[in-house]
Amino acid sequence: MSATAVQPKYPRTLFERVADARRRSDAIFDLLAPEALYDRPIPERHRLIFYLGHLEAFDWNLLGRGALDLKTENAEFDKLFAFGIDPTNGHLPNDVPGDWPSESQVRAYNAHTRDLLDENIARAMHVRPEIPGLADGTLLNVAIEHRLMHAETLAYLVHQLPFEKKLKDRATPSIGATNEVAPVQHMVTIREGHATLGLPRHHDDADFSQAGLRETEYPFGWDNEFEAIKFRVPAFSIDAFPVTNGRFLKFVRAGGYDDRRLWRPEDWEWKSSAGITHPFFWFPRGDSWNFRGMFEETPLPLASPVWVSHAEASAYARWRGKSLPTEAQWHRAAYAALDGHERDFPWGSELPDRDRGNFDFASWDPAPVGSHPLGASDFRVHDLLGNGWEWTSTPFGPLPGFEPFPFYRGYSADFFDGKHFVMKGGSQRTAACMLRRSFRNWFQPHYPYVYAKFRCVEA
Ligand code: AVJ
Ligand code: FE
Repeated sequence: MSATAVQPKYPRTLFERVADARRRSDAIFDLLAPEALYDRPIPERHRLIFYLGHLEAFDWNLLGRGALDLKTENAEFDKLFAFGIDPTNGHLPNDVPGDWPSESQVRAYNAHTRDLLDENIARAMHVRPEIPGLADGTLLNVAIEHRLMHAETLAYLVHQLPFEKKLKDRATPSIGATNEVAPVQHMVTIREGHATLGLPRHHDDADFSQAGLRETEYPFGWDNEFEAIKFRVPAFSIDAFPVTNGRFLKFVRAGGYDDRRLWRPEDWEWKSSAGITHPFFWFPRGDSWNFRGMFEETPLPLASPVWVSHAEASAYARWRGKSLPTEAQWHRAAYAALDGHERDFPWGSELPDRDRGNFDFASWDPAPVGSHPLGASDFRVHDLLGNGWEWTSTPFGPLPGFEPFPFYRGYSADFFDGKHFVMKGGSQRTAACMLRRSFRNWFQPHYPYVYAKFRCVEA
C-alpha cells in the first residue's frame, strides 16, 4: 500500500487509542501498595514487576527494534521482559524478588521507551510504507490490544492479592448488593443455520470494498482470526443466561465434585490432586459461602455468573445431561438474526456501550445475570458479551488458511496444542475493541483464575 493511502484521521485515532491503552495499564499499577509490585499473586505466573516492564519491552521489540530497526539501548531489559509464561504442569517459577531490577530502573526504561516510540512511529508510518504492517496500522493494533489484554490479565492477578495490598478504586463500581434474584433460567432453541467465524484476509478485497471500506479501515484481527469460515450449525438449545453461583451451588451440594463420572479423566486428576472442592472465587464461611471480589469479600452473589475453570464448567454441564457449546454454536446463539442474517454484535451493528453489557472496564466484579437486556441477541440469549468470558468445548486451533504473524510467530501457534479451549465473549475488564465477533480467547482447562463463565447446550 502507498503512504498516501493513510488517511490523516486514521493514525491520529490509533495514537489516541495508544494513549488510552497506556492509561489503562498504568491504572492497574496505581492500585498497588508499593511492596506488592514484587509479589506473585498467582503461583503459575510472573511477579507483577515483570508485567510493568513487559508492556514497554513488547512494544519496543515489536515496533522500535523490530519494525523500525532502531538502536536498542537496554538489550538486557528488552530480553528480560520480552515474554510472559504460559503455565506448564508442575513447573512453577522459582525466582525471588531480588532477581528483578528495581522499580525505578523499570520505570525509567518505560518512560524512555515510550518517548523513543512516540518520536519515531508517526513519521515512519508516513515515510516508510514498505515496512510490513506499519502503515496500515496492524502493528499499532497489536501493541494496543496486547496492552489491553494485559490490562485484563493483570486485573485477575491483582484480584488475588490480599486486600490490604491494594488501594480501592472508588471511581469504578465493584461488587455491590449481592441479594439480587436471577431471572428464571430457560433454554432457547436456535434453529439450523450459518455461523461465520473469523475474518476474510485483506486481499479478499471484495468483502470489504462492498461494505464501503477503504483499505486503511479494514478491521484488525489477530493471526488466529484468519481466515473466515462459514459453518452450517444444526438446531440446538442453549441456556438463555450464564450459569449463576446460585445454580452452581446446587451442583456443589449434590456432590458434583465427588462424582468421578462427571469429569474427564485428566480433569478429575487435576481436581483431586489439587484438592479442589468448589469454585476458586468462593470461600466457605461457616455454613455458607463468600465471594472474593476485587476489593472486598461479600456473601456469595447468587444471581451473578459463576466463574470457573473449563473442567468445572464441563462437569456441571454433564451433570445436567448437557454440554458446553462449540465455538460455532456460541456464534449462532450470539450473532444469528431471526431473519437469517448474521450480526456484528448480539444486539445488531451499533458499537458496544455499557448499556449492553458488563464490559470495557465498567466494573471490577460480576453483575447479576440479565442486568443488560439491551445486550441480548436476536434469539434473546443474554449476557453474551461481558461479565466473564464463556468457555466453549472447542479446542483452540487454527482456522483454515491460518498464517502466523511474521513479527510474532508464536502468538497463537504456540497454543495450538489441543490443551487450550476457545473462550468467547469478554469480561468486565475486556476493552470494547476486543468485543468484535471474530475475537478468540483461550486458556487451559485447569486455569481457575480467569473471569470465565459458561452456559450449557443440548442437541
Ligand atoms: C490471549 C489472553 C490467552 O494472556 O496468555 C499476552 C494474551 N499473549 N501476551 C495471554 C497474551 C502474550 C494471552 N491470551
Ligand atoms: Fe504479553
